[in-house]
Amino acid sequence: KKIAIFASGAGSNAQKIIEHFHHTNNGTAEVALVVSNKPTAGVLWIAEKENIPTLLIDKERFFKEDGYVPVLLEKKIDFIVLAGFLWKIPQALIDAYRNRIINIHPALLPKYGGKGMYGSFVHEAVVNAKESESGITIHYVDEHYDNGDIIFQAQCPVHPFDTPEMLAERIHALEHKHYPVVIEELLTNLS
Ligand code: GRF
Repeated sequence: KKIAIFASGAGSNAQKIIEHFHHTNNGTAEVALVVSNKPTAGVLWIAEKENIPTLLIDKERFFKEDGYVPVLLEKKIDFIVLAGFLWKIPQALIDAYRNRIINIHPALLPKYGGKGMYGSFVHEAVVNAKESESGITIHYVDEHYDNGDIIFQAQCPVHPFDTPEMLAERIHALEHKHYPVVIEELLTNLS
């Protein structure tokens, strides 16, 4: 099975996923492509270092033309993993890969989701609301932000004097631990 990772940022989740499939998957699945909308994204450096092909996408084509569907099909991509990808997924891509696109969100959806809720904004909102718990949500991607069916959640505590940065670190550790394993399980059950 061929995985494409879509990411706009540093790419620490992408790194963990790539390592996981290099080291423990015995070749049954591979990260075959890293897609980014940002030429300076750290994730592109990671991909290059790992010898994984990259694709820099253009807004106009992504949203108003073919959504890069023919490119992904031509590369025989089976499954799309969003890891800190900040653009909405266009309809053409959702239709072509229905139930084959997943995302990770750094909070316990349905709380703290939706447009504008990404990265440090999420942790800030959780800390400001004095929640005692946060966590991660892995879910299918549909037409709406943070809305598709939930596949997996894991929790962690939020301490009274946490800063958003401290919480972000705890959440990242949780993401790194679980995302690769959940992806592997989903791929095992993919027809
Ligand atoms: C993660 O916290 C993920 O939940 C969110 O964006 C962040 C990406 O971090 N959607 P990284 O680029 O994988 O380090």
